[in-house]
Amino acid sequence: MRKPFVAGNWKMNKTVAESRHLVSELVPGLQAIDGVDKVLCPPFTSLLAVAALLEGTDIGLGAQNIHWETAGAFTGEISPPMVAEYCQYVILGHSERRAYFGETDETVNRKIKAALAHDLTPILCVGETLEENEAERTKEVISRQVREDLYGLEGMIEPGNESPLVIAYEPIWAIGTGMAATADGAAAVVSDVIRPTLSDLFGEAFAQTVRVLYGGSVKGGNAAEFFSQPEIDGGLIGGASLKVADFIEIVQAAS
Ligand code: PGA
Repeated sequence: MRKPFVAGNWKMNKTVAESRHLVSELVPGLQAIDGVDKVLCPPFTSLLAVAALLEGTDIGLGAQNIHWETAGAFTGEISPPMVAEYCQYVILGHSERRAYFGETDETVNRKIKAALAHDLTPILCVGETLEENEAERTKEVISRQVREDLYGLEGMIEPGNESPLVIAYEPIWAIGTGMAATADGAAAVVSDVIRPTLSDLFGEAFAQTVRVLYGGSVKGGNAAEFFSQPEIDGGLIGGASLKVADFIEIVQAAS
């Protein structure tokens, strides 16, 4: 049995003051919901403030990116140990980072290894473009991303152990567009591509422990449809994670 998992990806939104306000509104509602791992991923500048507000709650904290090096001359970057002081999770390979900041499967792979080495659970995002989807290349693209992003992890992942990894399937054409995938379509990508690829890489027992989320225009109104699919273990939520009632409804749907 995989425990449901819902993470809010705030992206580049909320000052520290605004983050405090949003968290204070979210906590009572989220705390009342059991049986689901709940995670907030605010921008770097808000991590310290949000960590303080989440102390003593069962709500986890995640960053939206890291560099793969531990320290050094990398102006503007944030290292895994800096993030690990406050966070348990880190979103890696989000399509916006791949599209706008030149991230490749190779750099995502380095970041995944760095995260695991610092006890951060990666939330690895994979997804195909509209063009790839229409050319029926989804299977090829997603399986390549999973293989390359998780390349060489054999020594870091012990088959049979609980998975230290979460994967979010986020079709790029569904992110922030209001045009969500169908629940059936998303579940098919998980069952026909993501889990078999994980099984190939790390064995079937491990593949069955990995939480695989759907992300892309999830809202209060459509979350239950996705989460009723046995293959979909929760959601990575962008826009709706900034709206208190919507996010709480989504977490409720996952519980
Ligand atoms: P969205 O974003 O929910 O706003 O579509 C999802 C994501 O980018 O993780």
